[in-house]
Amino acid sequence: MKHVLSVASECAPLVKTGGLADVVGALPGAMIGQGWAVRTFLPGYPAVVQALEKPRTVLKEADFFGGPVKVLSGRAEGLDLLVFDAPHLFERDGSPYLDAGGADWPDNALRFAAFSKMAARLAGGAIKGWRPDVVHGHDWQAGLVPLYLRDDANRPGTLLTIHNVAFHGLAPASAIASLELDRADFTSDGFEFWNQISALKAGIVYSDKINTVSATYARELLTPEFGMGMDGVLKTRASDLTGILNGIDTDLWNPATDPAIQTYTTPRGKAKAKAALRAEFDLPVADGPLTVVVSRLSEQKGLDALLNALPALIDHGGQLALLGTGDKALEAAWRAAASHPNVGVHIGYDEGRSHRMIAGADAILVPSRFEPCGLTQLYGLRYGTLPVVARTGGLADTVIDANPVALASGVATGVQFHPVTADAIAGAFARLLDLWRVPDVWAKMQRNAMRQPVGWEASAPLYAALYESIAR
Ligand code: ADP
Ligand code: GLC
Repeated sequence: MKHVLSVASECAPLVKTGGLADVVGALPGAMIGQGWAVRTFLPGYPAVVQALEKPRTVLKEADFFGGPVKVLSGRAEGLDLLVFDAPHLFERDGSPYLDAGGADWPDNALRFAAFSKMAARLAGGAIKGWRPDVVHGHDWQAGLVPLYLRDDANRPGTLLTIHNVAFHGLAPASAIASLELDRADFTSDGFEFWNQISALKAGIVYSDKINTVSATYARELLTPEFGMGMDGVLKTRASDLTGILNGIDTDLWNPATDPAIQTYTTPRGKAKAKAALRAEFDLPVADGPLTVVVSRLSEQKGLDALLNALPALIDHGGQLALLGTGDKALEAAWRAAASHPNVGVHIGYDEGRSHRMIAGADAILVPSRFEPCGLTQLYGLRYGTLPVVARTGGLADTVIDANPVALASGVATGVQFHPVTADAIAGAFARLLDLWRVPDVWAKMQRNAMRQPVGWEASAPLYAALYESIAR
């Protein structure tokens, strides 16, 4: 058995704001069958510390980035965890990144620098009797790990996974000393990014390998349109950058056993689930398809464009139910849209409801402007809830568009559209309605969708090969 230290700011089901958590939570289970034991290092948010079963202190420092810290080892939710118990940095209410009022914690750069520095120590062998072969960091919160490890002759191999390049992990140059960085590396081929420190850039520059979560996004990342300013530095690492598609937890998202609704793997079951979903969202009985959205409300997700396409959907007999939270202006706009009888909106974060929606709907819409992988279209496939997606990133890689050729050869699983505009979304709805009107075609697409491999079967061996290529 070989060993990985996975370093991340979120991990489902303990702490989650998005798909990153799902992937970090699923990785250990996916990799064990490949001969890789994954230990996950998480910040000591209250929910994480409290969840630890029989925690043991494996490391202690009286003053680490401004306060006393410990590293706790223990299990929770079936995961093998190391937890950075640093009360002055992580014992706070609110989300991992935001205070209760929704503003970024002012010391985010310091919090995750300390976390990364401790990860580097653990990776370097600070725990007696345990030394990983690979340290696998996720997003900017772990970006500094390979830099802190650079001068350690016995360091493990380093991998950075980019789940979302939009977050750069910036800090002012004046923070170089407090983040325990070296001014000599504050250059354009080091961690300097437009005269600021970027933890993400450090991860890109100093990791042995880099990957992202779909093949298409790996290519898109190298373009100015999608690279968000990191395309230049990513191009210098292009030969070390790959795309590995995310899987989903097929036990948690299993239409045969989901407690949200049972037996909807049959057409009758689906109808029952749909009726319940309509009732939950106060939608009238109608003949048309019911489409759902489960999403963070942010610029990335294109839900502002969807607002303008709503008339095209509902004027032709369709209905839409949305579950989401995030940007306050978008929340308000969606609340207002709910005044239409065929639009149902729930603002909030609700796992149970997300299951009932994906179970009961006919289609799931993901109109993202960019999407490194996306998970909800994969849930949709598994539940026979046809995905209607923007042709970008992982959405492009996981949904087979119902074009004439795909329909004729019987492989279609959903609808793709481009670009993310109200017109293109309206066009996609029109195509969806055409498909809906031919029950045999729809049923065939549902069967195709449900047969797609959406778990980790294909991707776990790819991660194993990547780990193998850098293990030291
Ligand atoms: P991202 O990570 O960019 O938010 P993903 O599609 O990869 O996008 O993952 C989002 C995850 O968060 C999915 O598991 C989705 O079901 C979940 N999710 C997003 N918003 C909500 C919500 N309001 N309620 C429940 N689950 C949500
Ligand atoms: C990010 C991306 C999403 C991806 C998730 C997990 O938050 O926005 O597309 O599925 O990470 O990798």
